[in-house]
Amino acid sequence: MCGIIGYIGTNENTEEIIINNLKKLEYRGYDSSGICLFDNDKFYIHKSLGEIKNLTKNLNIKIKSHCGIAHTRWATHGSVSLNNTHPHLSFDKAWCVVHNGIIENHLDLKKELLEKNIKLNGETDTEVVPNLLSLQSGTILEAINKTLKKLEGSFAFCILNKNEKDTLFLARKNSPLYVAKNSDEVLASSDPVCFGEKYEEYFSLPENTICVAKKDKITFYDFDLKQIKVKATKVTVFEKSATKGEYNYFAEKEIDEIPHVLNNIIKSYGSINYFDKIDYKFLHNINNIKLIGCGTAYHACLMGAKYIQEKTDLECSAHIASEFRYSKPHIDKNTLCIFCSQSGETADTLLCLKLAKQKKAKIISLVNVPYSSIARQSNILLPLCAGMEIAVISTKAYNAMLFVFYMLSLHMYNILKHKNIDVIKKLKRLQKVNFFYNINYIDDISNVVLKSEKIFFIGKGEDYVSAMEAGLKLKEITYINCVSLPSGELKHGTLSLVDNKSLVFVIATKKELLSKNLASASEIKSRGGNIILVTNLDINETSLKDVDFVYYFDKCCEDLASMISIIPFQMLAVKTCLKLGYSPDKPRNLAKSVTVE
Ligand code: AGP
Repeated sequence: MCGIIGYIGTNENTEEIIINNLKKLEYRGYDSSGICLFDNDKFYIHKSLGEIKNLTKNLNIKIKSHCGIAHTRWATHGSVSLNNTHPHLSFDKAWCVVHNGIIENHLDLKKELLEKNIKLNGETDTEVVPNLLSLQSGTILEAINKTLKKLEGSFAFCILNKNEKDTLFLARKNSPLYVAKNSDEVLASSDPVCFGEKYEEYFSLPENTICVAKKDKITFYDFDLKQIKVKATKVTVFEKSATKGEYNYFAEKEIDEIPHVLNNIIKSYGSINYFDKIDYKFLHNINNIKLIGCGTAYHACLMGAKYIQEKTDLECSAHIASEFRYSKPHIDKNTLCIFCSQSGETADTLLCLKLAKQKKAKIISLVNVPYSSIARQSNILLPLCAGMEIAVISTKAYNAMLFVFYMLSLHMYNILKHKNIDVIKKLKRLQKVNFFYNINYIDDISNVVLKSEKIFFIGKGEDYVSAMEAGLKLKEITYINCVSLPSGELKHGTLSLVDNKSLVFVIATKKELLSKNLASASEIKSRGGNIILVTNLDINETSLKDVDFVYYFDKCCEDLASMISIIPFQMLAVKTCLKLGYSPDKPRNLAKSVTVE
């Protein structure tokens, strides 16, 4: 998703500081970038397509500026072109704007501008904004406020006006924006990860706020232009943890961090009782539970729903957020909605949260980014404690979601069935397990993947969820098409695709379902398919007659296996991606946090 940087300082290396911070937003995904340096009433703008290194290659703005704004654009309205790349200037060159979000009524506003003979250069929704700003009367602040009132949709803006030297005007509605200040610098960013190095604290712009940031003062206003107070947030290790260390890619590092994530969760939930508010009063009237998320977080919801339904006997279902709002869901005060999101900024999930609130449902959220919108808008927050996740493919955050869902299911069991299981002790059993994948086998398997024409992932119950997540990982970073389905569904249609160029991964972590999975393996073998079984069960040789290779991961109790069976698949996707010469951190067309619907 788009990323915004704004900066005011005293040094003359403004350009370098802005670019370095823009690079910290690369992980969000983008397809072009641009910068505007402000000096002596003039804006010096440079834009480029593709990676930020293209922007810096030709960057030759020979001015000594103390102030500037920059942007990474992830195309939504209009193609990937220089005209559509931010920053955008007004027709009279008085205003310069970068924007994150979507101006939903931009077509009507464009019409208004055209009637006034103001022609736009590109196709973006953003370009209406600097032009509208130029048409307003009054002070700069009044002009901004009047413009914002015309806009429908979501926005985070960083705005410069040519008559107001060294001042950043910021505004936010439904899109996150943060600003930090130290003795002689101000930095605005779409992500506090930029503040980790130099700043002690930062401000998160509240909904419907304008901020006027100067080197010596930051002032906040609501949309009635009344000054408001905003509390500062301390920069924590979370914002500081975004480095690759000795790894070439964040994706590799983040998979290897999974055991630390487990330890963090155990430590953190051991010292703070996050389940405190989920007591009998909160739970006893609930008659159905809905778990809501997108992509990998949705897969975690599918798994969580299985954990919770098994322990509570309550009707429990998982929903894709982008579908949920349009499915006329039955939600009332007796519904518990559980939202799950790594970034906490996914627009589809956030909008479902707002709907659930309107309908008076009870709400719990599992979120990794502690300062995110979903985290801030949830009464009960269960932190994922996974540390910053930078790679676009979600890995360690998925495992964290499963660890926390598992503990939540046990906690609910305790409350509803009047039991006293030590939730943390139950999860601690995983600390004895070796999570590490066998890289040599994974290397060999990735060669088989690359040679196969068709790839399938199958499993039953929890293993089917893992099959879905394994398939998503492979598709996301290798661009190899594959199919995930329940083992039992194969014979109802998809088996017709299986031939001797097919590779089928069978995931099996439940003893009682093993024979069914092996029966599916026989069906595949009879059609010439190649089978790799991924399991941690003891299986006798004769039962494995139809299986070409068995990848064993470390033994653990059956109820814990589904939380770690995904790890070899996460690494398999990364290995295969690297062999194909792609970056596992930045897959094409995708963004880390999807802040548009
Ligand atoms: C997973 O690898 C994806 N990048 C994607 O499916 C992601 O999980 C989804 O967009 C939801 O994001 P969230 O967890 O930040 O809400």
